[in-house]
Amino acid sequence: MKRLRSKVKSFKIETVEIENPEVLRNHFHTLLEGEIGNLREKLLNWYDANKRDLQWRNLAKHVDQNIRGYSVLVSEIMLQQTQVATVKSYYSKWIEKWPDFTALSKATLEEVNTVWSGLGYYSRGRRLYEAACKVVHEMDGTMPQTAEQLQKQLPGVGPYTAAAIGSIAFNERVGLVDGNVMRVISRLCSIGADTSKKSVVDVIWKLSNEMVDPDRPGDFNQAMMELGATVCTPKSPLCQVCPISLLCRANKRAKQPEAFAACHMDIEDVPDCLLCLPIDQPWVVKDGVTNYPRKAKKTAAKIARNIVLIIERTANESDSNEYLLWQRPVNGLLANLWEFPSFPSHHQWSDDLDKSRELTSAMDQLKGLLTGRDIERCQYMADVFHQFSHISQTYGLYRVAVSACENAEDDAVSLPDHYQGFRWLNARQIAEAAISTAMKKVFRSFTQNADGSSSSSLKRKAKSKETGTVSKKQMTLQSYFKSSQTE
Ligand code: ADE
Repeated sequence: MKRLRSKVKSFKIETVEIENPEVLRNHFHTLLEGEIGNLREKLLNWYDANKRDLQWRNLAKHVDQNIRGYSVLVSEIMLQQTQVATVKSYYSKWIEKWPDFTALSKATLEEVNTVWSGLGYYSRGRRLYEAACKVVHEMDGTMPQTAEQLQKQLPGVGPYTAAAIGSIAFNERVGLVDGNVMRVISRLCSIGADTSKKSVVDVIWKLSNEMVDPDRPGDFNQAMMELGATVCTPKSPLCQVCPISLLCRANKRAKQPEAFAACHMDIEDVPDCLLCLPIDQPWVVKDGVTNYPRKAKKTAAKIARNIVLIIERTANESDSNEYLLWQRPVNGLLANLWEFPSFPSHHQWSDDLDKSRELTSAMDQLKGLLTGRDIERCQYMADVFHQFSHISQTYGLYRVAVSACENAEDDAVSLPDHYQGFRWLNARQIAEAAISTAMKKVFRSFTQNADGSSSSSLKRKAKSKETGTVSKKQMTLQSYFKSSQTE
């Protein structure tokens, strides 16, 4: 990041004197020997005084190596793409239910998905389960203990998780890089190149491996992550309280331009440097240290719309209403989770013609239960929005009330290909089932709107009494549909 004028002979950072301008230039993307020791000491002191009290940190010190490895594996997989605050309660529940590999290997995937429900990225839970089965059935119950072997042998364990387990549970001297560490190192070493590029990520891994403390690698790595999460945050970093701000190149660039000026140096990004800020996106003074890391251009989230049918089976006085949920396919997005029947939609629902055509085709896919001819019984409830990582999803909720019946012919119902089966669940069961956060949101919105519209449903019931229609409770589904078609 520095272009040096020929008259510059030396430049002092902390206590290190550099004579060679080339070294100095590179030095802005790396730390010097003396600085690395300084970094370890400052960071670990800060961590000892400030670390959060987290359940998995205690278990990572368990005397049993396998318990240590297991508890770090579970916590690190849960913490991928999920905040510490969210993970805490899921982690306690998981460890209580499955305290070790053996216990987890005896679970079913359905149970795993249920406990994981709401945490997102469901393949993580499945892989964790597969890893436990592998350790128990193929490795005599003992997990690998080096980052290299962990990554090679356990499903769902990539370079980051392997390094986290190796260093935290087994004291292996390996650095690691997650989103937080990427930001810390990119500021520390003024790396302004696009951090979504593999070549840049490789450099950051290399730096992390050089920096990690050989005596306390696990604490060092956790300290880097903790610093990124609590101090060196993306938008409002707290440089005033940062234990390593004096070593931080970004901080120097933001706070002490005069120090550079005093040394007769330009602060400039070098056009041919693979790690400097790109020349067409130069340093912005007002952004300070947040100039690093350079934000990669985000690919726009896909916009998706779905129709969701909330098929409600009204109950006897004493029972609660039930709702039909089907099980998603074995592979792909939200694999194996339960959901209200949901269908891609290509239109804005304001257009009644389109709406009815799409609803007709959706209902036609629940053969033996609904047909497109039941369209008039479909009641629009609400739109629900949910942001997935790469999809901006809107659900259009439609309620279809059907009647409980003594001989509900569930056997006659067939689902679209790949869907694994269906169940009727009441509200309590839905709260406990393996369903996604998006579908929980859908059901919450449905119940709120249904409460609001309960007076109209009462009126409908009253009207049906007046018109002398047969009590819905006494009808089979098929006869209900027949009668509703002829109404
Ligand atoms: N983020 C992911 N894993 C972490 C850990 N062990 N400590 C702090 N932050 C983390």
